[in-house]
Amino acid sequence: MVASVASTYSDILTSVFSSTIAAKAWLATGAGALALVQISTGARIFGKIRHLVPIPPPYVNRIHRWSGRLAILLTLPVAFHCIFILGFKTTDMRVLAHSIVGSFVYGLIAVKLFFVHDNDHPRWTLPLVGGIVFATLATLWSTSSLWYFTNVRFGF
Ligand code: HEM
Ligand code: HEM
Repeated sequence: MVASVASTYSDILTSVFSSTIAAKAWLATGAGALALVQISTGARIFGKIRHLVPIPPPYVNRIHRWSGRLAILLTLPVAFHCIFILGFKTTDMRVLAHSIVGSFVYGLIAVKLFFVHDNDHPRWTLPLVGGIVFATLATLWSTSSLWYFTNVRFGF
């Protein structure tokens, strides 16, 4: 079952990118770029950096919601390959850190989304949990895509 899904997944990705690894590196980069949109629009929703993000509510909320959903969507094929095809590896510190942090990411996202819909929490909770999700995605990106672009190849 996983083998057949993996072969369809690989056929789809290699119809656009030169390899599944290049595809993962770019999809994770897309999610990372959207995470930057998330952190700045999240700060704007909380009344900060008005000059840097001059988009008023409710537009900024709508941008945050949809770019957040898209960021999560972009990570799904990447995580599928990581979890079901590569698995948890301890080759070196980079790969170990990547595997550990990767194992936490959807749990943290679930906590973040819980607080989005919960109204009974201190005001600092959402910026804190959102910031942790951002830091987690940044760590995953630096221990994978950044490494790939600087040590293997930079291209599609
Ligand atoms: C949303 C979560 C994740 C993202 C965005 C992500 C992203 C990536 C990317 C872009 C690569 C480089 C392409 C490649 O070598 O195939 C990679 C490699 C890898 N990932 Fe993930 N990953 C995630 C979760 C995980 C998880 C949960 C695990 C383990 C349980 C994991 C284990 C690995 C391993 C072992 C590699 C190969 C590293 C190497 O040998 O260079 N990843 N990941
Ligand atoms: C990479 C980090 C983040 C991701 C992936 C993310 C993702 C999301 C998603 C998907 C939603 C929509 C949930 C739904 O419609 O059910 C959402 C809503 C929200 N997030 Fe984030 N978020 C991040 C960071 C932050 C930060 C740092 C803050 C606060 C400073 C924040 C504050 C909010 C708020 C207030 C909403 C509700 C928006 C509204 O009023 O429509 N988020 N986030």
